Amino acid sequence: MHLARDFERDGFAVIEGFASPRACAKARDRAEEIVEKFEPSHRTVFTTNEQERVSDDLFLSSGDRVVCFFEEEALAADGTLTVPKERSINKIGHALHDLDPVFERFSYTDELADVSTAIGLSDPLALQSMYIFKQPSIGGEVGCHQDATFLWTDPVTVVGFWFALEDATLENGCLWAAPGGHRGPLRKVFKRAPGGGTEFEELDTTPLPQPPEELVPLPVSEGTLVVLHGLLPHWSDANRSPHSRHAYSLHCISAAARYPSWNWLQRGPTMPLRPLVGPAARAGVR
Ligand code: FE2
Repeated sequence: MHLARDFERDGFAVIEGFASPRACAKARDRAEEIVEKFEPSHRTVFTTNEQERVSDDLFLSSGDRVVCFFEEEALAADGTLTVPKERSINKIGHALHDLDPVFERFSYTDELADVSTAIGLSDPLALQSMYIFKQPSIGGEVGCHQDATFLWTDPVTVVGFWFALEDATLENGCLWAAPGGHRGPLRKVFKRAPGGGTEFEELDTTPLPQPPEELVPLPVSEGTLVVLHGLLPHWSDANRSPHSRHAYSLHCISAAARYPSWNWLQRGPTMPLRPLVGPAARAGVR
């Protein structure tokens, strides 16, 4: 495994056994607890379909909160659940890494800081985190996209750290990616619209690779870390299998890049982004 070489050549790198079985189990247990405590008062469905993209206040205000988003197929037309609550959540986002002690420990590690250094992300800041359930039978497709569309900086610096908390297979909706596709242009950006809500702005008309033919699957076992370049086109299919595919993702940007106020994800003044350094590095700073 040649991390820097793979990342530069392909736009992604796969590190097996990065997170221990114990760390993965702790993360899964904690997500279960969060969902158990979750009292749905306002139902927000997460979907990557552009026309239906959720742009309500809950989504736009989740940058510095911990919010549960429903799976689209978990809600009937009248808003009632079609499956038990614990099987109804698409994801939890977007500040688990700063607000939840279990995910904070999972995210801010010396090992991850080392990976960041190895791939050349300088002065990394931990921007956004998501716990992704990819529920059995109803886990929705995540359309082919580039992460920089949603987390843009000038210049583009966003890197996704995607941790498999369960085995990700062809059947349960593993990641797929376009090797070398990070050398292509950024197609569009997702912005807060001046009049409220959100909108896409097209930057380049080059089509994204067509799934699944123009992508390669990345089936990985529990504990694997997949590092994704912000311009890499990637996709995951719907999960129609009886097995869930839990994953945790953390997106980082460089502190040296400009983060515009039109990005959908914004934080309040009391919760600044923190550098991606592990406990050992933090101890050295004190
Ligand atoms: Fe992504």
